[in-house]
Amino acid sequence: MQINIELLEYSSIAELNETDRKLVEQSQKALNASYSPYSRFRVGAAVLLENGKIITGNNQENAAYPSGLCAERVALFYANAQYPETSVKAIAISASGDNKNFTKEFISPCGSCRQVILETENRFKTPIRIILYGSDKIVVFESASSLLPMAFSQIIK
Ligand code: THU
Repeated sequence: MQINIELLEYSSIAELNETDRKLVEQSQKALNASYSPYSRFRVGAAVLLENGKIITGNNQENAAYPSGLCAERVALFYANAQYPETSVKAIAISASGDNKNFTKEFISPCGSCRQVILETENRFKTPIRIILYGSDKIVVFESASSLLPMAFSQIIK
């Protein structure tokens, strides 16, 4: 079994190509509408579709804690619900704490979100570029498979 983890590292948003930079900016904007009264941690996600559209999402919490959903899945599920035939090319993720500053360290999607990003990648047979933003460090993965090696997939053949 071969596990490939290919990542690119950057130290500022200015170093990104224009497409990635715009997507990060959209994820930064999106976190303003996060509903996170319990964690007070805002996360924004921006998804770039093959047709050029950008869909954004943010974390949505609930008093019954497990009922909430991460920003990545809010954005991806909405994108897939609205554009079921359109592949996803990239997703950018940003976060801020209570002080409203973006986190210095990039945040990395939780296991459930990785599973959903990977399935979206497999569904459309197109790698999804994942851009994780931190004000001190940005990392870019060319494919969700780097973030979730040996993932579960139901074998229906
Ligand atoms: N959260 C996300 O939205 N995305 C992640 O990748 C990690 C965590 C949310 C869930 C919860 O609303 C808050 O961040 C604190 O865990």
